[in-house]
Amino acid sequence: MKSIMNAPFMAEMIRTATNMYAHGWDERNGGNISMLLDEAELKEYLTIPAIVRTIPTGFTAPELDGKLFLVTGTGKYFKNVQYDPKKNLGIVRLAENGAEAEVLWGFSDGGRFTSEFPAHMMSHAARLAADPENRVIMHCHPNNLIAMTYVHTLDEREFTRTLWRMETECIVVFPDGVNVLPWMLCGTNEIGEATAKKMETARLVVWAQHGIYGAGRDLDETFGLIETAEKAAEIYMKTAHLPILNTITDEALHQLEARFGVKAREGYLD
Ligand code: 13P
Ligand code: ZN
Repeated sequence: MKSIMNAPFMAEMIRTATNMYAHGWDERNGGNISMLLDEAELKEYLTIPAIVRTIPTGFTAPELDGKLFLVTGTGKYFKNVQYDPKKNLGIVRLAENGAEAEVLWGFSDGGRFTSEFPAHMMSHAARLAADPENRVIMHCHPNNLIAMTYVHTLDEREFTRTLWRMETECIVVFPDGVNVLPWMLCGTNEIGEATAKKMETARLVVWAQHGIYGAGRDLDETFGLIETAEKAAEIYMKTAHLPILNTITDEALHQLEARFGVKAREGYLD
């Protein structure tokens, strides 16, 4: 049996959490990540099943039954993940139609998975239905995207169009746009269900006055999605109060679609 600390998925997770903290997206215990693991790969590092303990999830997700996830712990600081992965991260397998999470590794201080587990698991189910290769759900608190939700309409088409205009690459990176939820109480099944519904049509979901969710096939892709949207939001916050003399027109956005072979969200371009 190989050491799990040498597993590529573990190294990637540690690197990503560390990098997210360095970007200022994850103050204190802010943010959480979950990544779907491949059972055959995990078996090189862990005996499955070897259940340490079982935690009720408080919801059901039959589509995810038996699936394995590497997930951040609730109350844990991203800046500390690299120093004690076994305490700050855990590997769980969903059982009983998703109603139970079997801890197979980690959460070594008796902790448990993120309080946003419902939003993560329901979003995994929604994204897997849209893209069978989706592996990652990532949540964090980037400054400019949060700031934008105080001063910009939360209308999804308008929010998306503003971000697309802030940087040429945006429409190429997230042609599906950004969906937006109004402020809701976090950590609940309700916000989980609402987030998953929004994940059916876009890989980015903004939580107004809170943060953002991203979904992708790997950690790099998901990080890059959030990074691009956050950069666009930063440019918006730097320019919104100034007279705008130039912009990226819809005609230019159509040219980008053609040049990069992407299709903008239906009805979002004039
Ligand atoms: P957790 O510490 O439970 O992951 O919560 C952090 C957070 O960002 C809540 O939205
Ligand atoms: Zn949060």
